[in-house]
Amino acid sequence: RTVALIGGEFSGGQPKGGVERAPKMMRQAKIVDQVKALGYEVNDCGDHAFPSPDAANSSADPPAGIVKNPRTVGNACKQIYDIVQAAVKRDEIVYTIGGDHSLGLATVGGHAASRPNLCCIWVDAHADINTAETTGSGNMHGMPVSILLGLQKPQDIPGFEWFNPVMTTADIVYIGLRDLDEGERSIIRKFGMKAFTMHHVDKYGIGQVVQMALDHVNPKRDRPIHLSFDVDALDPAIAPSTGTTVRGGLTFREGHYICEAVYETGLLRGLDIMEVNPALGNDKEVADTIAIGCSLTRCALGETLL
Ligand code: ARG
Ligand code: MN
Ligand code: MN
Ligand code: MN
Repeated sequence: RTVALIGGEFSGGQPKGGVERAPKMMRQAKIVDQVKALGYEVNDCGDHAFPSPDAANSSADPPAGIVKNPRTVGNACKQIYDIVQAAVKRDEIVYTIGGDHSLGLATVGGHAASRPNLCCIWVDAHADINTAETTGSGNMHGMPVSILLGLQKPQDIPGFEWFNPVMTTADIVYIGLRDLDEGERSIIRKFGMKAFTMHHVDKYGIGQVVQMALDHVNPKRDRPIHLSFDVDALDPAIAPSTGTTVRGGLTFREGHYICEAVYETGLLRGLDIMEVNPALGNDKEVADTIAIGCSLTRCALGETLL
């Protein structure tokens, strides 16, 4: 099989610089060779840079209400969306290295646009399902899921008019949640969305949680899967170099187990590794976080322990 590698050098969905450098750092850590060593062809679609929002000249992209950099984010998402969609049409596994998680709209959305039966597993400390109404920060990396599912009308955010939601609240499942805004809780409850928080990981163990997550979105194990992995789902002790750390996260093994178990279904068609920020933390913390981005990738693509 062929893996389409897409670098999303984008930080405009949140305020901390550096996250746009993760694709290059993962390449320096030899991610391409690692994927090839697992037996894949790599179609390298390159790293895509985007003008970062210029705070000094925000007149070019003024906030929409409190939503920051909407056109900048919308433009980056549109470009990545098109690249992802083209790769899916070639029947390649789409593998995107972020960049901040606002690009999840582009990766999952672009994938779903060409694969109507797609389901999504969103691994994250956060639900990223704020709307323009509920967001407290105005950072769009906290909003991709609401736009993806049409809970936030794309037409109401400047820069997102082009987006057409094709997935519903039943097509996505969360693992790892532990930092929700009040408005996000209401949305998840209102639509009866399936979410496995860290409480559930503690209660059932990660093996059961992944099985229950798959049973929910993929009961017959016949739907293609997009795994969108925000490294802040992991505990900050093992993945410290990310912009919005939250204590009490997934262990090293729990994170890798999710990837291994999704691989084992044979249904993985899209993978995102998001929010690695090499500008945060000391050299060892950065190296550890980059390494974990690589090892999660390898596990999702079939690396086994034995
Ligand atoms: N819920 C918070 C917000 O909306 C945090 C979002 C963090 N998202 C992320 N992709 N790291 O601002
Ligand atoms: Mn996220
Ligand atoms: Mn997160
Ligand atoms: Mn929060």
